[in-house]
Amino acid sequence: MAGELRHRRVPSSDGDGDGDEDEGVVASSQRLHSASSSAADGNGKGKAGTSSGGGEGAEPRREKRDALGWLEWGRGWMAVVGEFLFQRIAASHLANPLELPPLDGVSIVVTGATSGIGLQIARQLALAGAHVVMAVRRPKVAQDLIQKWQNENSETGRPLNAEVMELDLLSLDSVVKFADAWNARMAPLHVLINNAGIFAIGEPQRFSKDGHEEHMQVNHLAPALLAMLLIPSLLRGSPSRIVNVNSIMHTIGFVDAEDMNLRKHKYRSWLGYSNSKLAQVKFSSMLHKKIPAEAGINVVCASPGIVDTNVARDLPKIVVAAYHLIPYFIFDAQEGCRSALFAASDPQVPEYCEMLKSEDWPVCACINYDCNPMNASEEAHNLETSQLVWEKTLEMIGLPPDALEKLIAGETVQCRYGQQEAE
Ligand SMILES: NC(=O)c1ccc[n+]([C@@H]2O[C@H](COP(=O)([O-])OP(=O)(O)OC[C@H]3O[C@@H](n4cnc5c(N)ncnc54)[C@H](OP(=O)(O)O)[C@@H]3O)[C@@H](O)[C@H]2O)c1
Repeated sequence: MAGELRHRRVPSSDGDGDGDEDEGVVASSQRLHSASSSAADGNGKGKAGTSSGGGEGAEPRREKRDALGWLEWGRGWMAVVGEFLFQRIAASHLANPLELPPLDGVSIVVTGATSGIGLQIARQLALAGAHVVMAVRRPKVAQDLIQKWQNENSETGRPLNAEVMELDLLSLDSVVKFADAWNARMAPLHVLINNAGIFAIGEPQRFSKDGHEEHMQVNHLAPALLAMLLIPSLLRGSPSRIVNVNSIMHTIGFVDAEDMNLRKHKYRSWLGYSNSKLAQVKFSSMLHKKIPAEAGINVVCASPGIVDTNVARDLPKIVVAAYHLIPYFIFDAQEGCRSALFAASDPQVPEYCEMLKSEDWPVCACINYDCNPMNASEEAHNLETSQLVWEKTLEMIGLPPDALEKLIAGETVQCRYGQQEAE
């Protein structure tokens, strides 16, 4: 994909921007670069060899913790409230809709493309010329959407290159089936956007038929399995990207790798959600670290902001009504999809990922709702627990511990789910 886009100008180090047509992209990219170096220079928490656990020359192991400390928890909530109050001001420099480069010839899988942020992501990518695969649990709804977009776009005389494939993230068998079907095409995949997610606010704890807590399965485990199994196709599309739609709520999450399904800890729906989002950042960070640079697969987490979508469908009716009444603070889906679109299409993102990799930064690239880099939570920087989350996740999704190495080497990997070979 970057091959398609590399003709676009890389910013000069003097940062003058030169005022050409890519100024917005360039400015964002300069912020990407400067924020990552200040993060690396500043708190030092993630510097190679000084990161919080794991790796050669690491500090002694921390004592095992059961939850976030009060300070971290308080800082997390302040970040959530801060996002709510200031996201519109912080993102006021962004165009709406975000301007995308031409994406002809670029194949992109978008999960959860029938509603909210995912719907807007799929629509805008298709309008920019990408081949969009809507990976959804309600195929008929997605087909109708394509037809609607096609009708709206009829003036251009250019048919949209969008298609629908069935995927239910509450079933790991379904994930394997989807990946097998895609890999069987032997076609390149340039971008996987893991967008689909649930936040069953106030609902009692539920488990999937695979035995996993539903937030953990839909928001983290199934997307992780999808990303792993699609590696053969992402290698074919290299340089390629895995974009995970994450959330500021990861800052109040805490993942105990020995209890990712929250069977031992007291369950609350907001904890189920935020833990799943933190697990995703941690797994993505390990994936980013473990994928060799030559493979050219970049891993990014994008935070959409607080967005008016169906995600709040499970809230009490009165709260949903209040939610819709505060549009000044809350983004609409078109605004909320900008960070994911930026992460999926901006030509500077792979460079930023490579730089983080070369600096041995402990967290993968994280793009905030304003399309600037964001520093993930303190807990996300803990490499020791990220490694545990990596190992436990592979076990829970039915892959062997050396699955990544094998897939990168083009070897076959057996998944416990789907009962078929991954390639
Ligand atoms: N809205 C926010 O304020 C906010 C903030 C931070 C992060 N996010 C994240 O943004 C992403 C998109 O959420 P949204 O706000 O756009 O919510 P949404 O409107 O509820 O859309 C969620 C999408 O995920 C799909 N989905 C849910 N369960 C699925 C399953 N088992 N298998 C396949 N697809 C499934 C839904 O399909 P159906 O249409 O069939 O239900 C829908 O297309 C999520 O990852 C969410 O955590 C949202």
